[in-house]
Amino acid sequence: MINVKTRASGLLLSAVFLTIGFFAATAQAQSPTEIQAALDAAYTKYQNLEEGANADYIPALAAVDSNIYGIALVTADGKVYTAGDIESEVSIQSISKVFTLALVMDEKGADTILNTIGADATGMRFNSIVSVEWSKKGLGGPEMNSLVNPGAIATTSMVEGDSREAIWNSILNTYSEFAGRPLAVNQEVFKSEAETNQRNQAIGYLMYAYGYIKDDPMRATDIYTEQCSVNVNARDLATMAGTLANHGKNPVTGKQVMKSENVPELLAVMATAGLYDDSGKWLYRTGLPAKSGVGGGIIAVSPGKFGIAVISPRLDDAGNSVRAQLAIADISNALHGNPLEAGTQ
Ligand code: DON
Repeated sequence: MINVKTRASGLLLSAVFLTIGFFAATAQAQSPTEIQAALDAAYTKYQNLEEGANADYIPALAAVDSNIYGIALVTADGKVYTAGDIESEVSIQSISKVFTLALVMDEKGADTILNTIGADATGMRFNSIVSVEWSKKGLGGPEMNSLVNPGAIATTSMVEGDSREAIWNSILNTYSEFAGRPLAVNQEVFKSEAETNQRNQAIGYLMYAYGYIKDDPMRATDIYTEQCSVNVNARDLATMAGTLANHGKNPVTGKQVMKSENVPELLAVMATAGLYDDSGKWLYRTGLPAKSGVGGGIIAVSPGKFGIAVISPRLDDAGNSVRAQLAIADISNALHGNPLEAGTQ
């Protein structure tokens, strides 16, 4: 039996440790000036970098201004920092996959995703058809994930709703709640991709043939194409990422927009496959769960600390924005955002 005196000194000791822990954590947190300085430094460092090229397999993306360069960071307690162009909007493209996955995880549970689509990197390009064949037949199981096109189209097909309109409204509403403002579709991009997405249609049919998609694969592909066409600016994307950094609660609006229990699984898929076949390299350099889109955006999440986004349309060979990768890595490293650093000296 613990006597009163032992208990009292135990309590005192806990209080001392808590206080030390609090001051250690506070000492590590960066001041607003330091955070802004990190954004400004990365903005300036890469401002004149012109490496890479706009995506052009979707004709409307080739016409987007390649010079757009905006950075935003939203802390888990809702403070917003920006540098450069945060007004210009680009289509969200593959970053949308994260938020449709969040919706399906909330509706059906994280285990449903694991048991149907899977949570493994394909190691192949984002629109690989071979990856579908390989997953299903070669390895005897769902070695795929919701952040590459085949898994993403299947994930979109799982969103609940009685009609196309109901499903679409649910998706757009989810994205808007993550961003903290009503988002809208870029109709020009939607039309352009819908006219040229025969490869995704083929993927949709293949996923249907193999039983990943249970009903009309062309409807799923069409909704997927529309979700990729939602317009966002850097601040929208950073708020969406900041919501993931804050356990699914939008730190700016204060609204819980996804179940906090599903956030770790969502971040795990981002860490595994967020930058496609370059996901390993990215994780090696930054430790951050992230997601890119061929519109030029990248989001990254430092859990409990911040969400960050950069928009810059010039992409590398893997389809990831060149400046966005460099700027996010610099800023996160300056702010000790790498969650894998925990415990290092
Ligand atoms: O399905 C596609 O090809 C595009 N709507 C999205 C691809 C994408 O963003 C890949 N990103 N790096």
